[in-house]
This record gives sequence, C-alpha cells and structure tokens, in this order.
Amino acid sequence: MTAKPAIAVIGAGLMGAGIAQVFAAAGHRVALFDAIEAARASALARIRDNLAAIGLDPQAADAVILHDQLATAVADVDFVIEAAPEDLPLKQRLFSEVEQAARPGTILASNTSVIPITAIMEKLGDRTRALGTHWWNPPYLVPLVEVIRTTDTSNAAVAATLTLLASVGKTAVEVKKDIPGFIGNRLQHALWREAIALVAEGVCDAKTVDDVVKSSFGARLAVLGPLENADLVGTDLTRSIHGYLLPALDRSTAPSPYLDRLVDEGRLGFKSGEGFQAWAPAQQAALRERVTKHLMASFGAPATIGE
Ligand SMILES: NC(=O)c1ccc[n+]([C@@H]2O[C@H](COP(=O)([O-])OP(=O)(O)OC[C@H]3O[C@@H](n4cnc5c(N)ncnc54)[C@H](O)[C@@H]3O)[C@@H](O)[C@H]2O)c1
Repeated sequence: MTAKPAIAVIGAGLMGAGIAQVFAAAGHRVALFDAIEAARASALARIRDNLAAIGLDPQAADAVILHDQLATAVADVDFVIEAAPEDLPLKQRLFSEVEQAARPGTILASNTSVIPITAIMEKLGDRTRALGTHWWNPPYLVPLVEVIRTTDTSNAAVAATLTLLASVGKTAVEVKKDIPGFIGNRLQHALWREAIALVAEGVCDAKTVDDVVKSSFGARLAVLGPLENADLVGTDLTRSIHGYLLPALDRSTAPSPYLDRLVDEGRLGFKSGEGFQAWAPAQQAALRERVTKHLMASFGAPATIGE
C-alpha cells in the first residue's frame, strides 16, 4: 500500500487545527506549524475535543506533529496548506519561506477567505504548484472546499488537490478564475450587504432579517441551489423579477456606514457581547450548539481513519 500524502498545515488556529484534524482522522501524517506558542500549546487538545464532539476517536490527533519552525514542518510533505491570519504580506512571506524549504513537487495551497491567490503567490519562483483551497468553518463538518487556480497553476496540481480532498470526504469544486471571494463568499456577502442595508434603512431589525431567511429560502437552500430554483420557477419569471427588483437592491462598493458604526462603538458581535444583536454567553453557546447539531445531522459522520 502506498503511503497517504503527508500534509503540513501553517497556522494552528480555528481553521488550521480543523484542517489538520480532517487529514489526521483520515490517516495522513500531519505537520502543524504555528508561530505563536499559545496556539501550539492548545492545538492538540482542541483537535481531540473536536474529534470527540463529532463522535470520532480523539487518538487520531496523535498523527498531528507540532512544529515551531516552518522549514522543518514543510520539509518532507506532499501538500502545504496555509491557514495563517488574513494578511497579504504575511502570507507572501510565509510562502517565500515555504518555497525554500519544501520539495520541488510539493503543492502549495492558501486557505485565504478572499485574497486573490495570484497576489499571495506572486513572489514565488515556481507558481505552477500554487493554488487556493478555501475550506469552510468548521472544516471537519462543512464538506465544501473551493480549489482556486491561477493562470499559472498546472492542471496536475489542480487534479491532485481535487483527488486528495475527495479522498478525505470533502466536496471539492474547481474555481476557474482567481477572483476575490471566489464563489461561496461572493454569494454569501452579496446577501449580507443587502441584509445590512435592510436594517440600516429601517425596513426591519436584525432578528427579523435572520428569521425571514431561516424560515423561507434559507431552509430550502441546502437542497435547492439558487440556479436550480431559477429553473424551477422559470428563467422568464426570474428575468421579470430582476427587471423590477435589481434597480432597488443595495449596490454599495464599501462597507456600510451602519457596519462602520457598530465596529467603531465596539459592538463586535460575540466577542464583545453585542453586534447587530446582544449575545449573552448562554445565547452564544446555544447558537454554536444549534449550528454543530444541524451540520452533523446534514452531513453525517465525517471520514475516519482507514481506507
Ligand atoms: N474563520 C473562518 O471561518 C475562515 C473560513 C475560511 C477561511 N478562513 C481563512 O483561514 C485563515 C486562518 O483563519 P482562522 O480563522 O483560522 O484564524 P485564527 O486567528 O484562528 O488562526 C490563525 C493562526 O495563525 C497563527 N499565526 C499568526 N502568525 C503566524 C505566522 N507568522 N506563522 C504561522 N502561524 C501564524 C496564529 O497564532 C493562529 O493560531 C485566514 O486566511 C482566514 O481568512 C477563515
């Protein structure tokens, strides 16, 4: 039996630890690097807790080896996935260092949420092996990973990445153009822009926006995509609706002044106890639990160790 590809993950935070967990649970050797001691110190316990929470063996975390040096983490692996903070110069520096230390054939992937991969990888000598793998939170429950190619990325690198991700139970899709936000975050934030505008214009409060979504098209979205829905109702009806509605939708090209005010006033959401709404600790815990239970019920048991 040939060994499964070895993985290095850069950044042991929310996403990096979760991505490391997915590969460890599927029997891969995983090197996990973080520059911050506290992140390294807590990473394995977080992975064990999350494995247990979804009914998998916490011992799978033993396949994750922590590193305090980037060069040693990436020296002997087949794939590098970067999940460091969303900071372009930092990501560029990390990949320059990775290029020096990794083998020539190692595939280099960034988990950036919205930064174009071309910009992150622009300083590399060989960009044919560089691409994006955009995972969703929590990585061990949400199946989608968007695989983003640049004009430099080789077909072989894209194919190997799609194969690897499918082998650990992910729904991997190819994004053929390296545009900000890729596919999922463009769709998601188009909706958030309009949601914030509705509140800012006094049409309804934040809870009502969320209630409307959850009680209507949100409940259908997991089984009825927007373009399936357009076909279901008819492209003719869709065109007619767009003729009336699109001119009335928010088209701002900068963050809403309403959002600016929340941030400036320190209303940062869960972390400050209030954002669009107030969040007591018990309400935060209840919401997190509701989301985890829903994702577990929707997507079933994730990949476990073995074939
Ligand atoms: N949080 C999400 O829902 C989500 C979803 C998809 C993609 N992303 C993207 O994934 C990346 C990581 O996000 P996150 O939410 O895990 O952030 P996070 O803050 O939880 O984790 C980032 C980690 O990087 C570490 N770090 C800081 N400097 C470093 C360095 N020089 N080298 C290596 N590690 C360093 C930090 O110690 C921390 O552990 C970002 O690019 C983010 O945009 C986040």
